[in-house]
Amino acid sequence: MRAVVVTPREAGSGRLAEVPDPQPQQGEVLVRVREVGLDGTDIEILEGQYGEAPPGEDYLIIGHESLGQVQKLTDGAEGLSPGDWVVAIVRRPDPVPCRNCAADEWDMCLNGQYTERGIKGRHGFLAEFYVEAPKFLVRVPEELSPFAVLLEPLAIVEKAVEQIKRIQSRMVWQPQRAMVLGAGTIGLLAAMLLRLENVEVHIYNRSENKIKRDLTESTGANYICAKERPLGHELEREIGPVDIIVEATGFSPLAFDAMDMIGPNGIVCLTGVSGGSRTLQIAADHLNLEMVLMNKVVFGTVNANRRHFETGVRHLREIEARWPGVLSRMITHRYPIERFAEALQRPSRDIKRVVRVASPGPQEPGRE
Ligand code: BGC
Ligand code: ZN
Repeated sequence: MRAVVVTPREAGSGRLAEVPDPQPQQGEVLVRVREVGLDGTDIEILEGQYGEAPPGEDYLIIGHESLGQVQKLTDGAEGLSPGDWVVAIVRRPDPVPCRNCAADEWDMCLNGQYTERGIKGRHGFLAEFYVEAPKFLVRVPEELSPFAVLLEPLAIVEKAVEQIKRIQSRMVWQPQRAMVLGAGTIGLLAAMLLRLENVEVHIYNRSENKIKRDLTESTGANYICAKERPLGHELEREIGPVDIIVEATGFSPLAFDAMDMIGPNGIVCLTGVSGGSRTLQIAADHLNLEMVLMNKVVFGTVNANRRHFETGVRHLREIEARWPGVLSRMITHRYPIERFAEALQRPSRDIKRVVRVASPGPQEPGRE
């Protein structure tokens, strides 16, 4: 089959290659890939900064934001039917396993020996087919399929919001106002989840961008262009105290501005992966004092487990019902697999770029 592969740690090695068809073992499912979304992690892998091939192999099939259809079930693969739309979970528990992985909370792995499909030690989904166990496949209703490729990034946001709520259960908490830094896929989806709960949301984005502004405003959130207003106490005086800040740019200095700006009892959630080695001078005493005197929290979050994908399915439906079309509008480009390289240019003004892998073929999905 055809797949987009890289030689890990070798910049510019991305290529469309012919690789062996995956063979489902007993209890596994063969999935025909329809679409794969691309993000900053994929770009880093293409640039040779990240990524690890499966043990004993010299290439990695990339792609972790998947959407496919069940092609074939083997004996013992329960809970799915041929033709079902599915999204695969990205991370796999470590083999030890640590106590979190043992409890299926692989997103909280303690020893770092987890693997991630398309990223770390396991092939990904940007290929014609992949094989997976039902435990790591999440069924998606057909009517959500036009935008269900967004489920994986949404699951990241589901985990972030769940963690915010769990941490804030340390007190009586009724958040009024949130600020989301960055109007990319994660930022926009975070804004949507918070808007579903009627929190006032301000999206703070580096530049003016019509489609991002329109999407923000469609959900009743407010778009703030960073060029006009620096993040800080002046902005806070203008909009009022902020209870939640979700950092979704990966531009690390903003994390410290957010710690300064967040209001009393507030929480800063960091989701951006910052690959560089930037250093910064900070007002350490001031930050420390305010963190203490105002009970502030800052935490980081990565990845997602099965329950986050499942709540994500529910929320895809709710978002579509409340603001019809916003999810589809987030997918700004679709490329055929032959043009995968164009989809992996450094993000500019796009939101989500997706690679289409196969159009419905003559072959009917079936059970073996
Ligand atoms: C993926 C996560 C993954 C993280 C770190 C992100 O792009 O969406 O599933 O855990 O990269 O590898
Ligand atoms: Zn673990």
